[in-house]
Amino acid sequence: MRIILLGPPGSGKGTQAQRLVQRHGIVQLSTGEMLRTAVAAGTPVGLRAKDIMASGGLVPDDVVVGIISDRIEQDDAKRGFILDGFPRTVPQAQALDELLKHKHMKLDAVIELRVNESALLERVETRAAEMRARGEEVRIDDTPEVLVKRLASYRSQTEPLIHYYSERRKLITVDGMMAIEQVTREIGRILHAIGALETKQSKKAPAVKRGAGKTAPKKAAKKVAKGARKALKRASKVVRKAAKKGSDRPAKKVAKRRVKA
Ligand code: AP5
Ligand code: MG
Repeated sequence: MRIILLGPPGSGKGTQAQRLVQRHGIVQLSTGEMLRTAVAAGTPVGLRAKDIMASGGLVPDDVVVGIISDRIEQDDAKRGFILDGFPRTVPQAQALDELLKHKHMKLDAVIELRVNESALLERVETRAAEMRARGEEVRIDDTPEVLVKRLASYRSQTEPLIHYYSERRKLITVDGMMAIEQVTREIGRILHAIGALETKQSKKAPAVKRGAGKTAPKKAAKKVAKGARKALKRASKVVRKAAKKGSDRPAKKVAKRRVKA
């Protein structure tokens, strides 16, 4: 399963990504988390990103595309991934398309979490309070002032992706105003409906067997089609002959052979 979770700050991307990780054992690739780790570690990427993140702007495309491109290469991403917070601009989405094409990977869906702006500030403030209560360091961008800027960045640079993915028939919008559990259930229902989830049975079955199971009916169908083509060839021969002779006998023959095929 390869999906993108798209939505404004506080819409629940991280929350739902983690729930998907727990349920399906695939990795969450959050550019926000990766950048925060880089900032904390003081890496060159972190140094470039620090002030931009603190002000609610977007880190340059080449930086995040580089991070994601390296991350997708890693072994744990081979079974699938949930992109949380990436892509965030049209050039990032185009770069991702190229990357996936190059790796012969397919994107299953882009799930947009739609949440009223008025609810976002409340959520971000709650998160900050919860982090504080747990003794964790509160995100530097979780203030009402920076949230306004993050929202502006979302509207001007990320919202165009709704059109981008809708044109490519990848976009599925979920009502992110529902309770967390309901949103999870809705995402699960969608992933199931589009066939992005492996069933328990197919997960357990060895890859070869799964393949064999799929090819068996295909082979049978091919055989039938081949037989039908041969029968039609024979039939048209007979019809041509019959036309020459002006007899109606072969028509019966044709009918018989068609039934056989
Ligand atoms: P990032 O870390 O991605 O932050 P964000 O997009 O602003 O989103 P948040 O993490 O704040 O919210 P969320 O949608 O994950 O919501 P959550 O589940 O936590 O990016 C940070 C910064 O990094 C960016 O501003 C930018 O500078 C930079 N950056 C990152 N990626 C980049 C990229 N690709 N390009 C350029 N720059 C990039 O939920 C929030 C709260 O709400 C929680 O408390 C949660 O419990 C609660 N909640 C969740 N769902 C519900 C619900 N349904 N009902 C009630 N409460 C809910
Ligand atoms: Mg998040």
